[in-house]
Amino acid sequence: MKICVLGSAAGGGYPQWNCNHPNSKRPRAGDPAAPQRTQSSLAVSADGNEWVLFNASPDLRQQIFDNSILHPRDEKGLRDSPIQAVVLTNADVDHVAGLLNLRESQPFTIYATHRVLDVLNANSIFNVLNPKFVARQAMELGTELALTRPDGSSLGFSVIPFAVPGKVALWLEDESKGDNFGSVDEDTIALEVKDDSGSTQFYYMPACAKMTEELAARIKGAPLIFFDGTLWVDDEMIRDGVGVKTGQRMGHMSVSGDDGTLAALADLDITRKVFIHINTTNPILASDSLERKQVEEAGWEVSYDGMEIEL
Ligand code: MLT
Ligand code: MN
Repeated sequence: MKICVLGSAAGGGYPQWNCNHPNSKRPRAGDPAAPQRTQSSLAVSADGNEWVLFNASPDLRQQIFDNSILHPRDEKGLRDSPIQAVVLTNADVDHVAGLLNLRESQPFTIYATHRVLDVLNANSIFNVLNPKFVARQAMELGTELALTRPDGSSLGFSVIPFAVPGKVALWLEDESKGDNFGSVDEDTIALEVKDDSGSTQFYYMPACAKMTEELAARIKGAPLIFFDGTLWVDDEMIRDGVGVKTGQRMGHMSVSGDDGTLAALADLDITRKVFIHINTTNPILASDSLERKQVEEAGWEVSYDGMEIEL
């Protein structure tokens, strides 16, 4: 299988448009140690010819332009795309707004939970994806699903969607529903990806609020994981004066600290651990930071736009 990281940054990208945090200034200044990044998304393929997007970021138009694997193929005529399907892990702006780039009459399939499909169905702007060509297929939590081309033929791999601790999308929060804003299991999912022989290839988990025992047992021994790298410390946006929310409030566990990701995944025998969905304030974005050194010493990689992995 092949994976291409289309975007490695969290919501808003790196740098966020209105952010003057010292970290955010570096890509604007052209600092080679801190290049700009688009919003998180993967392209995944069994054969390197046809691709499935894991989430559709608002930067998708640019991501398609930047990655020739996603360009229309000459031999396929005047309208074509190697993108056969999009799998959504939540309804966050940074994961669904990119669907609007995939207008209008190009056949592909959107896979998402019932909950996330309900959100798309309730927002008629998504009908720019002509329903005659773009199918919406529900994924059941815990049930392996073979991904297919629009004609029903196999794309050569499958996903098992499962709930992870998290939160309803920011723009769907309902304060009348108490501390969890009406979040349900289907709001935030992760994906286990299996090849056609049934062997687990990797996990994709761009949002995770907490490492539970159940989740740790599930990912133990995995060959590869892409994991939520949103914040370095829970209160970094408040501490640095650029925001009012903690990571926990946004549904993200932090990289550092006793309850952090480095500690939680240290003893799970995962061969390759890669951070994705990294916020504009997180110091691991810069290749010359002490925090980057720390994550690398702990055996982690920081994904970057255009990163390719072949399994
Ligand atoms: C998140 O990952 O917490 C969201 O993308 C935040 C947002 O929508 O800004
Ligand atoms: Mn996000």
